[in-house]
Amino acid sequence: ISSRKITVKEVGPRDGLQNESVFVPTADKIAWINQLSRTGVSYIEITSFVHPKWIPALSDAVEVAQGIERAPGVTYGALVPNARGLERALLANIDDAAVFMSASETHNQKNINKSIEDTFPILKETAQAALAAQKTVRGYISTVFGCPYEGNVKIDAVIRVAENLLEMGIQEISLGDTIGIAHPRQVQEVLEVLLKRFPAERLAMHFHNTYGMALANTLVSVEMGISTFDSAVGGLGGCPYAPGASGNMATEDLLYMLHGMGMTTGIESTKMLEAARFLQGKMGKKFSSHQMQIGE
Ligand code: HMG
Ligand code: MG
Repeated sequence: ISSRKITVKEVGPRDGLQNESVFVPTADKIAWINQLSRTGVSYIEITSFVHPKWIPALSDAVEVAQGIERAPGVTYGALVPNARGLERALLANIDDAAVFMSASETHNQKNINKSIEDTFPILKETAQAALAAQKTVRGYISTVFGCPYEGNVKIDAVIRVAENLLEMGIQEISLGDTIGIAHPRQVQEVLEVLLKRFPAERLAMHFHNTYGMALANTLVSVEMGISTFDSAVGGLGGCPYAPGASGNMATEDLLYMLHGMGMTTGIESTKMLEAARFLQGKMGKKFSSHQMQIGE
């Protein structure tokens, strides 16, 4: 695996901020995303076009997306739940629309106010409109490794959602460990099943780090052929509609492992750390990642 090229998708501006009680001012978000754009990262999920009442921290989505400086070679994505959200996202000229739903019924209901069955046509309409507008589309599946309301989630439920998303023309599926409960053995078992049906190039992993397993889970996934991982600067993140969800895998800790093992990402670690320190200063709270615990 040394010398493998890994794509890191920075989701800090969306997943990282969505669960924060402090509203990071729009100008600070923009300055931070501009810094992220200069790290060498190839994908940034910059905001979310969900209902602003559901996620007040990102109610400035259009202003943020219109305010940033677009760097060449960077894809700017955003979370988009439905056609109304896509209208706002297109107005803001995002490059990639990330639709989302859960593999478990209760989390889907709590998070997007619909049953799984009723969500399919909504995501299909959204994905197809995004593709028609020349955008790329990725699809998140939440609660792949367990649900905060239902506990275990059957792999058949994950397969069914993944098949539906791929049939809609969605290019990449991001498998979410929403509450950060997976361990490497479970990741291996789930991927063994999924990789028999779906090519590794179509899959990304989205690990939250509640039990500190995210890096170990990443390593197992890399060994099984997955090359795309979502992470957030500082280890920020969580889903307000998933009790117990904690931060995402921290981008700087992920880079430490990947680069240390000889894998390449195109990202300059020192610049990523600078971006973490910048936001930490603005938010006035200590970030939880390992590297942010080390003194300057
Ligand atoms: P709803 O209330 O069922 O929506 O919410 P609706 O379609 O019935 O519409 C109600 C009103 O909201 C209408 O306005 C719509 O226009 C408006 P009215 O006609 O009454 O004046 N509306 C909107 N306004 C702005 N933007 C929109 C939008 N949609 C409808 N996009 C909805 C359904 C999906 C919108 C809501 O439940 C919602 O916003 N949920 C988002 C929750 C969320 O953001 N959760 C966190 C992200 S997911 C996550 O973190 C997991 C992930 O990281 C992966 C992992 O870790 O597993 C991705
Ligand atoms: Mg998440």
